[in-house]
Amino acid sequence: MSSTEITLRVVNAISDVAPAAWDACANPTCEVGAKIDYNPFISHDFLCSLELSGSVRNRAGWQPMHLVAEAGGELVGAVPCYAKSHSQGEYVFDPQKPREWNRGAFLVDGPAHCGACHTPKSILGGDKTAQYLQGSYLQDWSAPDITNDASRGLGHWTVDDIVTYLKTGHNRTTAATGPMAEAVDLSFSKLTDDDAKAIATYLKSLPGRQDTPAPLSRDAPVMIAGSAIYRDQCAACHGLDGKGIARLFPSIADSSMVRSDDPSTAIRIVLRGARSVATDAEPTAPGMPSYSWLLTDEQVAAVLTYMRNAWGGAAVEVKPSEVTRLKSSLAPRPD
Ligand code: HEC
Ligand code: HEC
Repeated sequence: MSSTEITLRVVNAISDVAPAAWDACANPTCEVGAKIDYNPFISHDFLCSLELSGSVRNRAGWQPMHLVAEAGGELVGAVPCYAKSHSQGEYVFDPQKPREWNRGAFLVDGPAHCGACHTPKSILGGDKTAQYLQGSYLQDWSAPDITNDASRGLGHWTVDDIVTYLKTGHNRTTAATGPMAEAVDLSFSKLTDDDAKAIATYLKSLPGRQDTPAPLSRDAPVMIAGSAIYRDQCAACHGLDGKGIARLFPSIADSSMVRSDDPSTAIRIVLRGARSVATDAEPTAPGMPSYSWLLTDEQVAAVLTYMRNAWGGAAVEVKPSEVTRLKSSLAPRPD
């Protein structure tokens, strides 16, 4: 049998490789761009047995990916491996941690791309790794902190809360909107239960920032104004205690999104209203009315400042100018 040269390439899609295969091949490391002779009986075992070469001896900073073998442009084999990613933050495979945790880290940093929206970007577009998953801004939406930080992140969410949110777009405290609703609809609602749980377990292990900002005083004029607006306009659905009604109206008291450093998503929802995703598991999606016709920019800022600092929360004041800026930026957008 004649041998053909094949090229090894590293990709980060897992769709065609079963998790079992990932497990079985947890050890091999491979050289990107290596050329080997193609053997028609090329198998997972064969690819897994590739020699470790070059400087690729230490797995620190390398993340699980897939090594695909191509001959004449055709895919002839694929196997999980470790490789250095240039497009994402550093992920250090941790042999001390359970498989579920590593699987979660792999999914979050790799195929699920949570950091693409939730990790802040530098001017050059790279991830600010020191602020990993601590919230970011994209096209007039803010994506909140999804570490286990108790004040701005998912500290009050259980593993089950995260799993339910990823799979249905809702949970007992909140509902997904905008780009997150789209991601749930197109992708996360199709995660297996085990993978959703692995992601949740991993997120709950991230300590986040841990510095708690001081809450604004209840007597501050903006808090008094915000509290009155909240009572009149919002409490009917979200509750005087901010707890909402499970699965119908989000609990503002437990929302990391509402306390996000960047309040854009919350402002946007108050101005425009929101209707979250309907998934097969939960086909009806309740709606949040729009208030841009009723409240001034000062009032929107005040009610949000109140919500951010009531019920044990603490976050910097929302400025009326932030509402004005977002309003003009949203004006030409239909969604
Ligand atoms: C396309 C961008 C995008 C991607 C990808 C994305 N998110 Fe989000 N996410 C958002 C935005 C924007 C919000 C805020 C909107 C909302 O809360 O409904 C959000 C909200 C959330 C929230 C809700 C927090 C709260 O308190 O309301 C969680 C939890 C979350 N994302 C987890 C994840 C995880 C886990 C992944 C990866 C598996 C992920 N997201 C991927 C954009 C994204
Ligand atoms: C008629 C009921 C109703 C009223 C009144 C109402 N909301 Fe909502 N609100 C909702 C629903 C439903 C959602 C969930 C929307 C979605 O699917 O994302 C929501 C979501 C929100 C969110 C996003 C919370 C999160 O974690 O995702 C904010 C912020 C919010 N509302 C603020 C307000 C403010 C401020 C007022 C008063 C000015 C108000 N709401 C009045 C029903 C209501």
